[in-house]
Amino acid sequence: MSRYLIQPSRLEHGDIVVPGDKSISHRALMLGAIAEGVTRIAGFLEGEDCLATMQAVRQLGVTVAGPTGGDVTVTGVGLHGLHGASGVLDMGNAGTAMRLCMGLLSAQSFDSELRGDASLMRRPMERVAKPLREMGARIETRDGRPPVTIHGGAELRGLRYAMPVASAQVKSAVLLAGLYARGETVVAEPAVTRDHTERMLRTFGCDVVVQDGAAHLQPPRRLEAAQILVPGDFSSAAFWIVAACIGASGPVVVRGVGVNPSRTGLLEMLALMGADLRLCNHRNFGAEPVADIEVRPAPLTGARIPARLVPLAIDELPALFIAAACATGETVVTGAAELRVKETDRIAVMAQGLAAVGIAHEVLPDGLRIEGGPLRGGTVDSGGDHRVAMSFAIAALRATGPLEILDVANVATSYPGFADTAGQAGLAITESA
Ligand code: S3P
Repeated sequence: MSRYLIQPSRLEHGDIVVPGDKSISHRALMLGAIAEGVTRIAGFLEGEDCLATMQAVRQLGVTVAGPTGGDVTVTGVGLHGLHGASGVLDMGNAGTAMRLCMGLLSAQSFDSELRGDASLMRRPMERVAKPLREMGARIETRDGRPPVTIHGGAELRGLRYAMPVASAQVKSAVLLAGLYARGETVVAEPAVTRDHTERMLRTFGCDVVVQDGAAHLQPPRRLEAAQILVPGDFSSAAFWIVAACIGASGPVVVRGVGVNPSRTGLLEMLALMGADLRLCNHRNFGAEPVADIEVRPAPLTGARIPARLVPLAIDELPALFIAAACATGETVVTGAAELRVKETDRIAVMAQGLAAVGIAHEVLPDGLRIEGGPLRGGTVDSGGDHRVAMSFAIAALRATGPLEILDVANVATSYPGFADTAGQAGLAITESA
């Protein structure tokens, strides 16, 4: 089984650059596919999740060139130009790929079948299927999970949908279906979630208006190809941000990171804990704000994390749990039940890992209570979850002995090259297959 072995070490001060944003890379491929003209994407994330979307788009009859050094060219076929895939669409480990494609494919004239790896086959899909059915889509799941079968030829109607869970994937799937619906589609969210779909739809010429927590979409006649420059992924930067707080020899700057406010809740959480963080060199990559993030090592203090920040840091909570383990005192995270339906049950898997390195904690139905303390070496099983694996990799910066992390191959889904970057940044890390 793939593993990391990390000896006690420090993160060296200096610059780190992270790969492109996963959420934005998926969306650029999908919108590029149904736009008119040639979409050029730079900084595309060449991780397995986005490559699964790329493969699916190709199976649907779209010509995609690349990726070459982060450059991808998508020759759009227009809103009605996709063809049915000859076989199953395999989304691998990628929940975003599957859920957004459900929205896109429910409006097509042909049938589709979507599957994924063992983790994805366990994840809930009715949260997307249900509103799509209300729009007129004909979708089947198996006990609420993949495989997902979508019957083509449905006529979709616009929907006003109040999402019961704060999910950008559900919101995006409904908006993508809304591109094809008769009448306006409105999606209201119970809390702010990442808004990359809304921003990118505007870049492709579709008028999406956000008002009082709801996105309003009028079906466009066409989408126009665009140039997309993908920012560095904040969720990948999160590991270095926490690593710099807990175990760096001096200031660390993570350059060119997307700082869309719907993604950066971790910065506020860490600031509450006493972190020394600064955003500088602000600029825009198209519709997305970008900055360099400067972090100085600082002693952290436990905090009660406001639930309103949780959806703004949903993918960063595993890294935050490591910050909490290295803080003085208690940190409490609640309102994070969504973690239970990610690539793994991240509350349970992180708790097992914390136990393995000697950190006292209590598992809550919707979060964790963590008592900071000395972290010992040992063996942690990531359960095949990329973010759990990377979180414990940075925890090794504070471990008193070697830390072994098991089942790390899925790091390649979101952060290819993580171990190389970690090694260059000072971690004494070795990876074995
Ligand atoms: C994502 C939305 C989030 C996030 C996932 C990416 C997206 O999922 O956890 O990694 O790109 O829309 P949910 O919509 O399930 O919260």
